[in-house]
Amino acid sequence: MNVIVVNNFNRMSEEAAKLLVAQVRTKPGSVLGLATGSTPLGVYKLLAEYHQAGVDFSRVITFNLDEYIGLAPDHPQSYRYYMEENLFSKINIKQENTHVPSGIAPDLEAECRRYEEAIRQAGGIDLQLLGIGSNGHIGFNEPGTPFDSTTQIVDLTESTIRDNSRFFDSPDEVPTQAVSMGIKSIMQAKSIVLIASGGSKADAVCAAVHGPVTPEVPASVLQLHPSVTIVVDQAAGGRL
Ligand code: GLP
Repeated sequence: MNVIVVNNFNRMSEEAAKLLVAQVRTKPGSVLGLATGSTPLGVYKLLAEYHQAGVDFSRVITFNLDEYIGLAPDHPQSYRYYMEENLFSKINIKQENTHVPSGIAPDLEAECRRYEEAIRQAGGIDLQLLGIGSNGHIGFNEPGTPFDSTTQIVDLTESTIRDNSRFFDSPDEVPTQAVSMGIKSIMQAKSIVLIASGGSKADAVCAAVHGPVTPEVPASVLQLHPSVTIVVDQAAGGRL
């Protein structure tokens, strides 16, 4: 694992954005795996700036990690909405090249299979951007998720619902389930960039990098991947 500790959120965002842009410049038809949450917001802002400065996303294909079950794409807290707001509307990506699992498909099991197949048909993910939950989750793969999991329906833990309730009016409004790419889907990416910011992530980052490789800390599986870069600010890297 290549671990980079930088001073602050902005520097973390710059480092990650540089890696994504290098990927797109090297291979204009790159398949990018994308994450949501507050951590990638700076990265997406910078990608929009890179686009203003000439970086072309017209051939890029994206797959998001996850989506809340029950939220329609136009729900302001859905991850599809987040992606449109924060990135897709700001770069010249083609709408049909952007993929977020559907949280309202009538047959969610079929949706999981369809999503996994769509990733395969696109040639697999070249670079996967990841955040990390304070409990070590990646995507919405909570502690205990088997390492051989593919896109699936997941139950969110109490701690994740609590963490994510800040985006909703009340914790009762946070969906309790999601469709998430599995650990195996994530590990099949050719390269992975994980970003983390703030002291609330310090324990999870430390366990992921230095702890035993165990499904109890989903991000620890990254120790088994041949090409992982972890970019953290000083607070998130405080226990490394
Ligand atoms: C959610 C997402 C994850 C994300 C995590 C951390 O649970 N499903 O992909 O990494 O939150 O979010 P934040 O960056 O807001 O701390």
